[in-house]
Amino acid sequence: VTTARVDPLAWLADAARSRTAAGLRRRLRPRELGDDVLDLAGNDYLGLSMHPAVIEAGVAALRAWGAGSTGSRLVTGTTSLHAELDAALAGFVGTEAALVCATGYAANLAAVTALSGPGSLIVSDAANHASLVDACRLSRARVAVVPHGDHDAVADALASRAEVRALVVTDTLFSVDGDVCDFAALHAVSRRYGAVLVGDEAHALGVVGTGRGVAATCGLAGEPDVVLTSSLSKSLGSQGGVVLGPAAVTAQLVDVGRTVIFDTGLAPAAVGAALAALSLLTADPGLATRARARAADVAAIVGVPRGPGTVVPVVLGDPDRAVAAQAALAEHGVRVGCFRPPSVPHGRSALRLSARANLTDADLDRLREAWQVAIPADRAAATAT
Ligand SMILES: Cc1ncc(COP(=O)(O)O)c(C=O)c1O
Repeated sequence: VTTARVDPLAWLADAARSRTAAGLRRRLRPRELGDDVLDLAGNDYLGLSMHPAVIEAGVAALRAWGAGSTGSRLVTGTTSLHAELDAALAGFVGTEAALVCATGYAANLAAVTALSGPGSLIVSDAANHASLVDACRLSRARVAVVPHGDHDAVADALASRAEVRALVVTDTLFSVDGDVCDFAALHAVSRRYGAVLVGDEAHALGVVGTGRGVAATCGLAGEPDVVLTSSLSKSLGSQGGVVLGPAAVTAQLVDVGRTVIFDTGLAPAAVGAALAALSLLTADPGLATRARARAADVAAIVGVPRGPGTVVPVVLGDPDRAVAAQAALAEHGVRVGCFRPPSVPHGRSALRLSARANLTDADLDRLREAWQVAIPADRAAATAT
């Protein structure tokens, strides 16, 4: 070890240069108030984040309970409003219980780590969201990553295990490719081999079926061996996450869930806003239908097959091509997401457009015009890859 004084962070510049060469630099782009941009990048699938009733409920909760929840859910971070949201979410999805966490990411960490641990097996789909991947890593369980959607591989991993306890974890509606898992088949496999099925409904809540998500649409949300998680920051237009399932599961989370015990509870304003969004969704299941119909319109405009939810992926292959396409659309006033490794596998860089229930015909016309001008050359090349 040398005693010469060196900059211990000098390697960051080299790492950044390598990412630049690979087309993998990222930068933050602050949104400006009142900009005239058509947003097809956010996850506000029902357009509720700006709904007056949702905003009013957030403001009322903020005034009543203050800006922060003041402690972890276990200490002071459970207000009666949090308890109301727990019960409302469980009632809506059809589970025995629910426990709201600070984020969807924290909900996945809590659910997966508290239900596994050393001496157990987790079988995880290769396309799962990073928060499920990180939850698997933190769990100290043995993790078997199976090819995307391969239920035979799930069965093999479960059948050949030495561990008594096992979890199968999956996105129910995959966040980048927008496809839906065959939840009923996966549940049958999990049950046959005595495993608990954990489904992340972040992109399905508010969108699939009457908005209750994939598991509820299959009639499986209330099963004793099913645990669901979700974010409250997508269709509910707020912030936060939730774990839903049997009461024994939420009790386990209160006892040992690290992101329940060591993370401050969700801010009251977000709780109030999520409650209002949930009651709007409960009152109008047509919101989910409209979101899916708008997604079908967007898919038709960009020339890809319609999917089961609101996520419309356009795979362009090369990261530089995806970034250039995103920039070209931005120049025409349309904001879309751009996914590059490690968010997607190498060679699968993509634009990700997300539809909203409140997209107007004029919005769709605007997308059509921008797409025709900005994308044709890229698309032609992409479909060849
Ligand atoms: C599938 C999935 N799960 C979990 C999360 C994390 O949710 P949150 O943003 O509320 O932390 C996200 C996205 O952010 C997601 O796409």
